Amino acid sequence: MSLVHAQPDTSSAWPLDQHGRPLHDLRISVMDRCNFRCPYCMPESTYGEHFTFLRNDERLSFDEIERLCRLAATLGVSKLRLTGGEPLLRPQLAELVARLRSIHGITDLAMTTNGVLLARHAHALREAGLDRITVSLDTLDPVLFHRMSGGRGALDDVVAGIEVARAAGFPHGVKLNTVVQRGVNEHTVLPLVERFRGTGVVVRFIEYMDVGNHNAWRADDVVPSQELIERIDARWPLQAVPPKYAGEVATRYRFVDGAGEIGMISSISQPFCGNCTRARLSSEGRLYTCLFATRGTDLRSLLREGASDEAIVECLRDVWLRRGDRYSEERAERHGRRKHKIEMHYIGG
Ligand code: GTP
Ligand code: 5AD
Ligand code: SF4
Ligand code: SF4
Repeated sequence: MSLVHAQPDTSSAWPLDQHGRPLHDLRISVMDRCNFRCPYCMPESTYGEHFTFLRNDERLSFDEIERLCRLAATLGVSKLRLTGGEPLLRPQLAELVARLRSIHGITDLAMTTNGVLLARHAHALREAGLDRITVSLDTLDPVLFHRMSGGRGALDDVVAGIEVARAAGFPHGVKLNTVVQRGVNEHTVLPLVERFRGTGVVVRFIEYMDVGNHNAWRADDVVPSQELIERIDARWPLQAVPPKYAGEVATRYRFVDGAGEIGMISSISQPFCGNCTRARLSSEGRLYTCLFATRGTDLRSLLREGASDEAIVECLRDVWLRRGDRYSEERAERHGRRKHKIEMHYIGG
C-alpha cells in the first residue's frame, strides 16, 4: 500500500503525522503480566519465575489512564482498545471501562483478552459499557492449545469465556484473533472456521509477525493469508467484502451461503501502514507510535510531575506530528528487521 505524502500539519486541532495519517486509535496495555506463556510472545525461557514485572505503583493508575484518554480524545482519538499482557489480570477493570465509556468523543471501546478469565467478567464489562471483545484463540485442539499457551491455559475455559461473552450481548459483538504459524496450527484452521460459522463470532486469521525480540521469527513460519483464503474458499465459498472504515486492519470476506464472515490480517504479505492511525500506551505510561517501536515517550513522568492538561496535549500532539513509522512496509521493501523492539505483552497487541 502506498503512503499519502501530505505536509505535516502543525496548526489544526487534530494533528496529522509525517505521512498525513490522523490519530484515531489508542491501544492501552493495562497490565504487563499475562497468565499464559505463548512461545511467540512470552516464552517461559525468558518469562520464568524470576522475571521482574512492573510494580503496581509503576503502572499507570486508572486516574492517569482516564486523564490521558480524555486528552487524547481532544486530538481525534475516538477508539480505545484495552490490551495487555492480559487485561483481565488488572483488578477492577470494569471500573476503568465505565470511566472511559463516559469520555466525550469515544465512540468505540474494545478489549483484547486471552479469554481464560472472561466467563467471570463478561457481564460486568458489558454493564460497564464495553462495546466489543476480541478473544485470542489459536486452535480448538486442546492439546495443541495447552502447548501454545506455554502449558498454562485450558481450552475449555476460553471457549466458556467466548460463550458467556456472546450471551452478554456486546453491542458490537465478539471476534477471535487466530495467529497462524506454519507447521504449528495451520492444520487446525478449517475446524476453527467450521465451529464459528453461523454463530455471529468473526474469526480473524493473523499472519505471524516478528514482534518483540524473543520469538525467533522466520519468514518461513508465516502462512500467507492468500493461502488460507484459498483453503477456506475451497470448502465454504467466500466473497470479498469492502472495508467498514478506511484503515481497517482486517480484510473481510463473507461466506456465500450467508453463514457470516471472516477476516484476514495480512501484516506481512500486505502491510497496512499507509492507513495506520494507532498509538499505543504501555502499562508504565510510555507512548509508542508503532507496534515495532524501539523507543517511546514517557508520559508518566509528565503526569506525576504535575503537568497541566495543555502541556500533556502539546506533548501528544508533538509526538504525533513527528511520527514517521511504517515498519511493516519497510520490512517488506528491504527484507530487513529491527533489533531491540518493545515486547508485545508490554506495548499491547
Ligand atoms: P477492529 O476489531 O477491526 O477494530 O480491529 P483492531 O485493529 O482493533 O483489531 P485487533 O486489536 O484485534 O488487532 C488484531 C491483530 O492485528 C493484533 O493483535 C495484531 O496482531 C495485529 N495488528 C493490530 N494493529 C496492528 C498494527 O498497527 N500493526 C501491525 N503490524 N499489526 C497490527
Ligand atoms: N504475530 C501475530 N500476532 C501476535 N499476537 C501476539 N504475538 C503475535 C505475533 N508474533 C497476537 C495475539 C493476540 C494479540 C494480542 O496479538 O495472538 O491475539
Ligand atoms: Fe499469549 Fe496474549 Fe499472553 Fe502474549 S499477551 S502470552 S499472546 S495470551
Ligand atoms: Fe502501524 Fe507500525 Fe503496524 Fe505499520 S507496522 S501498521 S506503522 S503499527
